[in-house]
Amino acid sequence: MKVEWKAKLFNDVYRKHLTCQTPIQIFYGGSSSGKSYFILGQRTIFDILNGGRNFLICRNVAKTNRISTFNEITKSIKRTDSLRGLFTINKTELTITCSNGYQIFFAGLDDPEKLKSISPAKGVITDIIFEESTEIDYDSFKLIRKRLRGKVEPGIHKRIVFLFNPILKSHWIYREFFRGNWDDDSTLFEDEELLILKTTYRDNLEHLEQEDIDALENEKDEYYRDVYTDGNWGTLGDLVFKRCHWRVEDLSAIENNFNNYLNGLDFGFTNDPSALVRCAIKGANIYVFNSHGGKGWDNKRISKEILPIIGNDYVWCDSAEPKSIHELIGHGVRALAVQKSKDYLLHAIQWMHQYTIIVDKRCQELINELDVWQWQKDKYGESINKPVDKNNHWIDALHYALSSEIRKMNIKASAPVTRKREIHSSTLVGF
Ligand SMILES: Nc1ncnc2c1ncn2[C@@H]1O[C@H](COP(=O)(O)OP(=O)(O)OP(=O)(O)O)[C@@H](O)[C@H]1O
Ligand SMILES: [Mg+2]
Repeated sequence: MKVEWKAKLFNDVYRKHLTCQTPIQIFYGGSSSGKSYFILGQRTIFDILNGGRNFLICRNVAKTNRISTFNEITKSIKRTDSLRGLFTINKTELTITCSNGYQIFFAGLDDPEKLKSISPAKGVITDIIFEESTEIDYDSFKLIRKRLRGKVEPGIHKRIVFLFNPILKSHWIYREFFRGNWDDDSTLFEDEELLILKTTYRDNLEHLEQEDIDALENEKDEYYRDVYTDGNWGTLGDLVFKRCHWRVEDLSAIENNFNNYLNGLDFGFTNDPSALVRCAIKGANIYVFNSHGGKGWDNKRISKEILPIIGNDYVWCDSAEPKSIHELIGHGVRALAVQKSKDYLLHAIQWMHQYTIIVDKRCQELINELDVWQWQKDKYGESINKPVDKNNHWIDALHYALSSEIRKMNIKASAPVTRKREIHSSTLVGF
């Protein structure tokens, strides 16, 4: 199938990897470096039009595919006149079929039945792409690579592609593919088996808004600057929620067994998601069953999205947005404002530290935040009793949900935060 691709469409740093057939390909680095745009929005479409390849695009949790990977590819198809008529997009099944018969499938590793049932109309799966690969654990990776079975057409080689920000040096990906020994100044490694390309926003300047660039360049937090601005493998400092404070489980069997559910909502819009968390308390455990949200949602959309989850239950919201709360009420949501005192957040953390938080494995966004949420450091590098105010939307929604319970407790807000037993970060969930 002949489609003209102008070379300037591709970002310089990626263009030479457009036809790369190396079996394992790692595109990692800082935020906004164009990794997802190139691999999902461009190369996958380029390849499928050339024929012989079927794609399986994976994230750890199925529902996160729809708003990320599926969106990225469909947006790319829809924005290009010459592509639009060449693809059939099935939004219900999350499949994209090219008029030459080759297909793109999307699946979450939490949906083994769907994974088993994936069978291309023509040929076999030749490519697996793991978006946000640091969410995925080693065993799931080993299991899923078995999907690359069967005979391929001449000239086609099977590939596995990883896309991610290097959140933690103790991650299995670092041990497995970076041989536990990678110079952060290196940007390229290539042999017959493995390609590693590191990029940062500096490789994608022409496609970024000045405010995105400023945000990355003015990042003050050492960890976020290292990982998201400079694309270096991260080393975590002092986590707010250590491994003794929380864990991940499959709660699907018990999620409807509680009498009293607590809901919390953090408002976002363009850059931050609006985030809902639904949980319950039993004994010494806080069970988190559901996290749901998205960017660009107005209050009508928020209501439409959350009402099927919370029904007639109350939802505690950020009191900084009284107008939004008022509008939600107008749309039938029983919304309440959280009363926040000066030390509210510290108090909430101390209160939560008295419990074990058990998070359902589908609440990926909350898991990602709990994995890396840290205390700020002073100029001597010592932790202070103030968490980093970043990537904490779902955590905010969680303590809003719990706020009515937190208020009942009498904890001295100025007391030092409990530092429970330190556990090495390599034991993080999914690592
Ligand atoms: N070749 C391109 N043409 C037009 N826009 C582009 C191109 N490459 C990247 N962009 C834009 O640059 C921005 C950042 O790209 P992208 O989301 O792919 O980065 P990323 O490396 O995946 O970031 P993250 O690590 O945060 O996921 C997006 O708005 C994307 O649409
Ligand atoms: Mg990306």
